[in-house]
This record gives sequence, C-alpha cells and structure tokens, in this order.
Amino acid sequence: MIRIETERLVIREFSISDAKDLNKIENQSHILKWMPDFESTMNETITWINWRMGQYLKYSKENPTLILGITLKKTNKLIGFIGIDSKEEVNNETEVAYFIDNKHINRGYATEASQAIINWIFKNSDIEFLMAIIQIGNQSSQRVIEKVGFEKLATKTLFVLGEKEDREFYYYRLYRDDYYCRSFEINK
Ligand SMILES: CC(C)(COP(=O)(O)OP(=O)(O)OC[C@H]1O[C@@H](n2cnc3c(N)ncnc32)[C@H](O)[C@@H]1OP(=O)(O)O)[C@@H](O)C(=O)NCCC(=O)NCCS
Repeated sequence: MIRIETERLVIREFSISDAKDLNKIENQSHILKWMPDFESTMNETITWINWRMGQYLKYSKENPTLILGITLKKTNKLIGFIGIDSKEEVNNETEVAYFIDNKHINRGYATEASQAIINWIFKNSDIEFLMAIIQIGNQSSQRVIEKVGFEKLATKTLFVLGEKEDREFYYYRLYRDDYYCRSFEINK
C-alpha cells in the first residue's frame, strides 16, 4: 500500500469509498477549465478508481504510474489528486498532474504534495526526468511547478484529451540529476 506522509498531508492510494468526494471535486469548474477530461458521472468516477486500483499492483520502476489521493492529515478529508503517468500526446513522457478542491486552494497543498510525490518517484523508479505541460493562462499551476524546481523549456501547441481544439502549453522538465544536486545543496 503506497502512502506518503508530509507535514500536513497523507497522500495515498484511492479506494472506492473516495468515489463521492472525488466526483464532487473533479467536476469543479476551476479544474475543468484546465483539465476538461476529468468531467465525470459518478459511474465514470467509480470505473476510473477501479482501474487505478488495478494499476497499483502493476507498478514498474521502468514505466512508473502512480495516481494518488491527497488528504488532510488532521481530518482524513480528500482534497485532491496527484498523479505521475505517461502522456500519450507528449511522446509518452512521464507527466506530473494535480488538482485541489477549490475550498482548499492557495494554502500550499499542491506544492507540498508535488514535492512528496517527486521525491518518492525518483527514489522508486529509474526514470531520468519528469515533465509537465501547463496551459499558458494557468498561472497557479505554473507557480506550483516552478516552486518544486521544474524548468520551462519550450512552448508547445497540443491537442489533448478532453479539449475541442489545439491549446498552447508551457513544457517543463525536472531531471533526476538536477533534483538530487539541488537537494544536496539545500541539505548541506
Ligand atoms: C493548480 C492547483 C493544483 C494549485 O493548487 P494549490 O494547492 O492552490 O497550490 P499552492 O497553494 O501550492 O500554490 C499556488 C501558487 O500559485 C499562486 N497563484 C494562485 N493564483 C494565481 C494567479 N492567478 N496568478 C499567479 N499566481 C497565482 C499562489 O499565490 C501560490 O504561489 P505562492 O506560494 O508563491 O504564493 C489548483 O489551483 C487547481 O486545482 N487548479 C485547477 C486544476 C489545474 O489547473 N491543475 C493543473 C493542470 S496542469
């Protein structure tokens, strides 16, 4: 069972009992604006959780996929999602993605969860880098990804799942070597 603890959060595997809370969060308009493919009926949410639960057993160091729920340590409340998964539209590179319940945004939770999952993934996989693609108008997500050390490398026009037309994205990467060099500098 994968469970990552941070100062304020427990980031852990999804289970069917999360369906109601997850469905409520993932249909919020501030999320669908940037992640329209998360629009779901309750049945779709249950199917998605079942599929993700099956993937926990198949975790591989070569092609890591990890989709976890973000919960508050104090209350156990589900407040979001964080995932590491391959992105077909970007050469199947391994992407970091997240969302947070609108009642809990701007308190540093996405940053805290991202730092934790990045650390876990570099320790438990062989991948050389993680990537993120973030729409140009999505300043909050850009801030999160830059705070955790990703570097903006390019602008890409992409047609991604759930969108009706091409969108402009910033393309970011975080390399394993840079991550460990920086952690070493911070801890020196
Ligand atoms: C992006 C998202 C996950 C951020 O979650 P969060 O928990 O609020 O993130 P954090 O609190 O860790 O950090 C947010 C940062 O963005 C900043 N920010 C928020 N709105 C902003 C805006 N309009 N312009 C510039 N910066 C902004 C905050 O001030 C904070 O930076 P700071 O710590 O320097 O003050 C959340 O807004 C969300 O769920 N958005 C919809 C889904 C989404 O866009 N996911 C990413 C797809 S690529």
